[in-house]
Amino acid sequence: MRSLDELAAQVDGLRGKRVLVRSDLNVPLDGPDDARRITDDGRIRASLPTWRQLLDQGARVVVCAHLGRPKGAPEAKYSLAPVAERVRELLPGVTVRFATDTTGESARAEADALEDGQLLLLENLRFSAAETSKDDDERGRFARDLADAASAYVGDGFGAVHRKHASVYDVPQHLPAAAGGLVLAEVEVLQRLTTEPARPYVVVLGGSKVSDKLGVIEALLGRADRILVGGGMVFTFLAAQGHDVGSSLLEADQLETVRGYLATAAERGVDVVLPTDVVAATAFSADAEHDVVAADAIPSDRMGLDIGPESSAAFAAALADAGTVFWNGPMGVFEMEPYAAGTRAVAEAIAGSDAFSVVGGGDSAAAVRALGLSEEDFGHISTGGGASLEYLQGEALPGLQALEG
Ligand code: 3PG
Repeated sequence: MRSLDELAAQVDGLRGKRVLVRSDLNVPLDGPDDARRITDDGRIRASLPTWRQLLDQGARVVVCAHLGRPKGAPEAKYSLAPVAERVRELLPGVTVRFATDTTGESARAEADALEDGQLLLLENLRFSAAETSKDDDERGRFARDLADAASAYVGDGFGAVHRKHASVYDVPQHLPAAAGGLVLAEVEVLQRLTTEPARPYVVVLGGSKVSDKLGVIEALLGRADRILVGGGMVFTFLAAQGHDVGSSLLEADQLETVRGYLATAAERGVDVVLPTDVVAATAFSADAEHDVVAADAIPSDRMGLDIGPESSAAFAAALADAGTVFWNGPMGVFEMEPYAAGTRAVAEAIAGSDAFSVVGGGDSAAAVRALGLSEEDFGHISTGGGASLEYLQGEALPGLQALEG
């Protein structure tokens, strides 16, 4: 993949050039639809170095990104306007403009007004159905409109490189293109996990659904030495072992698949570590009555919302001698204090280990920051959730393929 320096050489310097940068600014927000508040700005901060590099060279930077999954039409709650505000705070001294559309009147006017060393953020790309369209022609037309406003393209939205979307896959085919520093750094780290990871290679998987992780589990059964499972997905594992999981999250249609994984792991000598106790509550609420119960005896009216203290200790012990750690997905509903201890224990164990550690996935990265842990204690905190999982599965990622072409 071409770097920014190579791109600059190719277009005879970036000063005065309009450079379209695809970033991943899909940040978590809360609050009312017309007054949204960013709860974790990690992806915005991770995008800054590439923008700064371009701004410092006098480029006119046009940033495009998505937020959430709107259905191809504008929706106030998915506006990137709060992100533009945050970018202004993070880039003091830089003029940051915001267009209320992507290829319409506002974008054209703002792009025309853009001066050297200024930045323009376009409104959510997914307000146009063409961005995510499966129809190559429809996507291609939108991509051409986006490309027309610039003379070079930088792909830096690592979290979206697994999406065959117009701004990720099609635009780079119309412009001189390079990979931004964030994409290059993410790929370099993930390569380390797929080629000769220091052993033991311990993987911690959590999050709500096992069905989101099928490919990666299959791939890791051939590579990891230990797989620790927590989060909502663990109840499908416990049920696959024949335990009653009460009213916990359960994907009954995945039971057979999970049984297959457990059998494969046993054959290959991969240690699958499941919790032996869980925090079980009467409802999905911070105020609900909750207790620690044995993982094989969850009462029928209770749902597991975190791994228990005995499991936290066992998971920490399984991480202690790791050479490499990959962590994707929280161990429980860490956003609610009564169910945060398992995620905190795992995060602290990883932070305290000497292993080369990679935290993948928006939720786990947000958990690290929300729990007040220092990002420096981790080898790498990826901005990509689905993207890092698909990379580890060995999938060809459209956004990387487009930059390699
Ligand atoms: C993410 O949050 O993983 C990326 O921003 C991609 O978002 P998506 O899953 O809605 O395509």
